[in-house]
Amino acid sequence: MSVNLDKCWLNHIHIDHSIQSYAFSTETNLSKTLEQELTHFFAAEKVQDSKEAQLFFEMKPLANLGEEGFRMEQKENQIIITAATSKGWLYGFYHLLRLFSQGKPVVELESIPDNRFRMVNHWDNMDGSIERGYAGDSIFFRDNQFREDWDRVREYARLLASVSINALTINNVNVHQVETYLIREPLLSQVAKAAEIFRSYGIKLFLSINYAAPIEMGELTTADPLDETVQAWWQQAADTIYAKISDFGGFVVKADSENRPGPFTYGRNHADGANMLGRAIAPYQGVVFWRCFVYDNHQDWRNRTIDRARAAYDHFAPLDGEFLDNVVLQIKNGPMDFQVREAVSPLFGALKKTNQILEFQITQEYTGQQKHIFYLVPLWKEVLDFDTHAEGEGSTIQKVLNRYPEHPSLNGITAVTNVGLDNNWTGHKLSQANFYGFGRLGWDASLTAEEILEEWIAGTFTLDDAAKEVLKEIMMTSRYVYEEYTSPLGIGWMVEPNHHYGPNIDGYEYSMWGTYHFSDRNGLGVDRTVATGTGYTSQYYPENFEKYEHIETCPDELLLFFHHVPYTHVLKSGKTVIQHIYDTHFVGVEAVKGYQEKWESLKGQLAEEDYENVRLRLIEQMRCATEWRDQVNTYYYRKSGVVDEKNRIIYP
Ligand code: GCU
Repeated sequence: MSVNLDKCWLNHIHIDHSIQSYAFSTETNLSKTLEQELTHFFAAEKVQDSKEAQLFFEMKPLANLGEEGFRMEQKENQIIITAATSKGWLYGFYHLLRLFSQGKPVVELESIPDNRFRMVNHWDNMDGSIERGYAGDSIFFRDNQFREDWDRVREYARLLASVSINALTINNVNVHQVETYLIREPLLSQVAKAAEIFRSYGIKLFLSINYAAPIEMGELTTADPLDETVQAWWQQAADTIYAKISDFGGFVVKADSENRPGPFTYGRNHADGANMLGRAIAPYQGVVFWRCFVYDNHQDWRNRTIDRARAAYDHFAPLDGEFLDNVVLQIKNGPMDFQVREAVSPLFGALKKTNQILEFQITQEYTGQQKHIFYLVPLWKEVLDFDTHAEGEGSTIQKVLNRYPEHPSLNGITAVTNVGLDNNWTGHKLSQANFYGFGRLGWDASLTAEEILEEWIAGTFTLDDAAKEVLKEIMMTSRYVYEEYTSPLGIGWMVEPNHHYGPNIDGYEYSMWGTYHFSDRNGLGVDRTVATGTGYTSQYYPENFEKYEHIETCPDELLLFFHHVPYTHVLKSGKTVIQHIYDTHFVGVEAVKGYQEKWESLKGQLAEEDYENVRLRLIEQMRCATEWRDQVNTYYYRKSGVVDEKNRIIYP
């Protein structure tokens, strides 16, 4: 299949200004990439017959710009992009394109990224499937080989660089047997080929590895991190990889998590495991991302004292300061698993001497699987702006990421990507905004969800002002609408087990996964208080502990995440919990109906393919939302016996 570049926002740029010449000061690998970008740009029809302007690239070792930052200014008809590296130029140029697409003038600015690492993780398997992928098969693999569609990989690198992503993993965190061999020839040469392409866009390639690779590959009988033969095995593996790819990024590791092997088997802890790998790649400036998604997934549902939400903090907070300088702990935004709403992970702020990277999920596993509209940036903003109180008021997560550990850190943000072989990359056309938004937030956390959306719309469609407002309204409300018709008040889950799409209220209720709502005839919710529950609230700093511990101060939207309450409990909104459940489910479905009408009003302003792409998915969203409404409302009516005040249809 050929790459359909028309589906990439970089090619929907409407140029109001023009640039007719450019100059380079030096020639590097990256500046070749830039040159290609410029050729592309100059080839665009509109450039040729518009008024003259000149674009200059200046290279100056300005310390404040760092390795990636850029400076931009316009003097009469000259636009000047200054950077210390050609990578900075490239980011500056993409920024210029964004300004053009929005019809904005060049104002003098200096821009440096908020995060050292801005990364995406592919959950791609070598058979070509993607774990939690909703946009077609893997762009990298097929039939346990590389696809070798390097043009497609190059287009993807371009897409990533255009939103300033500077690192990626290409294979699933769940490393199956075949992927274990990516660190060896003959596959390693193919990895090197991919790394070369990404390098030309300023992106470092990492691999997910299997912690028990020495055993899986049949070469050792142990993976004990303190065993010298194991250490030597990994050293040899690292030497082999770096001999082939001198700037190889390093490893991402899911260990002792959901049945993956890890150091626990040998009575060792996570620091032992991560440091052993860190030591092997430290001589090459390699980095280990060690995931904190560790919990007991063989939990007895009868035992209400065990709480999955506690697990990451309980495992990792005591190890703060014990990790090597090239080890980074990778922490999901919430303590559970990318739910539509959950509390923010208390590990942020608790770890003060450890590198850390925040993990989001762009792929919409629990948020409608790219069949439902769900603009994720507002959710991510909430997380980044969350005040941990680690150092008094204003210690937001973004500040924590910039502050701890104190020595130059390797912090950043990463996300499970939503990209596959589909022509428009993301399946649902509007899910592109999530990919775009993740990159933009990683660079500049102060951007608002709305600003990012406006940029994306301007770079993607040609809409009149009224139509832009319609689209903005749909997307800005989409997260709340999805929440309204799915699981209420922060409790999460209630999805079909395994594939996580559509309602199944008790789907996980009597299982081993630790994700319960505890609904009975009197009430629902998980008691995570210190006073009467699992004590999870104690993992927060006092201000947040106090807020969440008490029903009176706990925000409505997280009430059921922290408390078990009767159906008749009155929320701050003045409604009872049960009436809130009924109302939001009716309102949510009506909102989706409204989306369908609004979308129809855009017909004619969008390419037919894009219009149909979303129209068809909205039909499915409506079907699924209706199913959610009827199952949730019926379930709670049957449990509680409380009738709907407004006498709407619930199935008794
Ligand atoms: C979720 C997801 C899995 C994934 C896991 C992880 O549980 O459903 O598919 O492997 O997260 O983050 O490792």
